[in-house]
Amino acid sequence: MRENPLVLHVLGARPNFVKAAPVVRALGELGVRQGIIHTGQHYDALMSDVFFADLGLPEPVANLGVGSGSHAKQTAALLVGLEEVVLQHDPDLVVVYGDVNSTLAAILVCAKLGVRTAHVEAGLRSFDRGMPEEVNRIVTDSLSDLLFATSPDALSHLAAEGVPAAKVHLVGNPMIDSLFSALPSLDPAPVQARLDIPARYAVATLHRPANVDTPEAAKELVSAVLDVARQIPIVVPIHPRGRTRLAEAGLVDGPSVKVIEPLGYVDFLSLVRGAALVVTDSGGVQEETTMLGVPCLTVRPNTERPITITHGTNRLVTPALLPAAAGKALADGASTPSGELPPLWDGAAGPRIARVISAWLKGDNLSPAAQGARSE
Ligand code: UD1
Ligand code: UDP
Repeated sequence: MRENPLVLHVLGARPNFVKAAPVVRALGELGVRQGIIHTGQHYDALMSDVFFADLGLPEPVANLGVGSGSHAKQTAALLVGLEEVVLQHDPDLVVVYGDVNSTLAAILVCAKLGVRTAHVEAGLRSFDRGMPEEVNRIVTDSLSDLLFATSPDALSHLAAEGVPAAKVHLVGNPMIDSLFSALPSLDPAPVQARLDIPARYAVATLHRPANVDTPEAAKELVSAVLDVARQIPIVVPIHPRGRTRLAEAGLVDGPSVKVIEPLGYVDFLSLVRGAALVVTDSGGVQEETTMLGVPCLTVRPNTERPITITHGTNRLVTPALLPAAAGKALADGASTPSGELPPLWDGAAGPRIARVISAWLKGDNLSPAAQGARSE
């Protein structure tokens, strides 16, 4: 390995920022040279800048500004932009996070350039290839050199796909590290006062294509959410993906529905902390509600995070079953089947990942392919 090796983190979408912050911090504490490449997949201030501020992330060394588009157009722009910036910076390791298109593109670019990679949140599987994220996960894990798993089920998925165990490290969940760091600042009261939210309320976040991309799906979902709103006032910080379609389906401000812009990280988790119920289709929010002990109803047929059901407060529901499930959750409160939180969700995943990366950087880890690519 070279003197003073360089680690680059490729981030593009809202959940990436939350997962990367603890890793960046911990690598910094070990004195590792590093930089962030922001792909610009998410670009609205409330989907990007606010997370850099709330999470204390350093300024990116580059922002590719790829923006939105179809999967092909967005991924193509990501590939072209990332190849150039990776060649320019010549990193020793590129770290990617989660399952978004920026993650997939970075892994492909690095695999072709012979640059070594690490995937944080490896091995999660919904076994639903209709989800773009599932495709991204499978490709990313198959090409990564270091795989950091957040839950034990990920280890068996990776083993079943033939990933050598030596590449895989069970480290806990950096998204939960970020939650631990934010915990002292999570106070619902000022956010409730600012947004005029009553004492008892639910929060909903919905952005999965299967829920919001067609008028039919949006209509079914909105009708269920409005049924929930008859039981408890509901606040909906709206992801830009579903904004128009959900509004057309009838999700608009009313006496017990408050549709607002996406919230910054601290404001959002403050509201979640104080909520009687969360309704979501987000991956990360399933984990955060588990940690905060808030009842969570996930409007999806499956989850790549079953640990939030076995060790958390999460339940899967169809739109049709959502209103009744909400009634039950509001009556029963949170309950976790195992009574235990997921193993290693202790706020120390970032330091664990940083220690593995730092040790790896000190070893001679360049593959023959990578050495060949470097000497060209
Ligand atoms: C992406 C991820 C998804 C993740 C989500 C987190 C992929 C394939 N999907 O979905 O896994 O759960 O991020 O939030 O990578 N838009 C804006 N402003 C922005 C960003 C997006 O208005 O700053 C709108 C655009 O109309 C865009 C749409 O949202 O077309 C979708 O954005 P995109 O990044 O393609 O996917 P997400 O649905 O955000
Ligand atoms: N989040 C936020 N503001 C919001 C909605 C979500 O800060 O209005 C945070 C949430 O706490 C979690 C992350 O964004 O940390 C999850 O992102 P998202 O739901 O967009 O993506 P997913 O996890 O589904 O990939």
